Amino acid sequence: MRTLAAFTLGAALALAATSAFADPIVIKFSHVVTPDTPKGKGADKFKELAEKYTEGKVKVEVYPNSQLYKDKEELEALQLGAVQMLAPSLAKFGPLGVKEFEVFDLPYIFPDQAALQRVEDGPVGQKLFQKLESKGIKGLAYWDNGFKVMTANKPLVKPDDYKGVKLRIQSSKVLESQMRALGALPQVMAFSEVYQAMQTGVVDGNENTPSNVYTQKMHEVQKYVTVTNHGYIGYAVITNKKFWDGLPADVRTQLERAMKESTQLANAIAQKENDDALAAIKASGKSEIITPTPEQKKALRTALLPVHKEMESRVGKDLIEAIYKETNVAGQ
Ligand code: LMR
Repeated sequence: MRTLAAFTLGAALALAATSAFADPIVIKFSHVVTPDTPKGKGADKFKELAEKYTEGKVKVEVYPNSQLYKDKEELEALQLGAVQMLAPSLAKFGPLGVKEFEVFDLPYIFPDQAALQRVEDGPVGQKLFQKLESKGIKGLAYWDNGFKVMTANKPLVKPDDYKGVKLRIQSSKVLESQMRALGALPQVMAFSEVYQAMQTGVVDGNENTPSNVYTQKMHEVQKYVTVTNHGYIGYAVITNKKFWDGLPADVRTQLERAMKESTQLANAIAQKENDDALAAIKASGKSEIITPTPEQKKALRTALLPVHKEMESRVGKDLIEAIYKETNVAGQ
């Protein structure tokens, strides 16, 4: 009897010890920007909340600044299960075979942040996430960065200024078509290589958000920053579907809560991060900030709007029209 009681007690203690000291579930979250950006801060917030809400059952390791993988490699790593979470720019899903996300790259398709939010939160946003599932990927949230500026060593103001200028782009056919509409020479390149390419003259400039320009120190190797706000950069926070579906249900619920709250934070700070970055670039005195006049803005818009029609065959006419409906702005 005593032996049985001792055995039972021993077994119970062993079981308690296993669950108390079980290895945590590790989520490797890889991204390409610095921790000091809207995405970097969102990822760090997710780590803090995920570990708190799961009471240590989950450990999140954030790898910023392309430390683990560059743009294209990180998507492959997610599919293979080498990392569990990413937040690639919406302009980077083409190589995965989900080209519809490139609709977000169409110049001037979003009049403002609020319109963009409606699209992401509505049926369009959800439909795009569904397209990822056949690739073994699950979309968890959309995170904002913001509207783009153009940088180069010459002032880019009139459409003519772009002729023959080598501009780095993300891997999006819509962005390629946008640059060609201006007569520029687009070059697809991983984000981690842009600074050096600018420094060595492999490219003349790029389009990006002020926070990305500033945190990658691009303004130190670019003389001019033109505040065009012609297009948008945002992210899809994604996970390996098999990994996510295989999580214990309670853990998944806690992670969903952490994701919801870190999304709110990332989206709330994005605009300010970009405003602050633009002010910091200006204060550095290294790049001149150019604010186009309303006429100059109009000329750029007129030169870029035909890209919508041209890209119907790439991203789908219905999708473009669904966005027009949501934003109350027709492209033409
Ligand atoms: C870029 O490649 O320019 C951006 O998408 C980087 C990022 O993740 O913001």
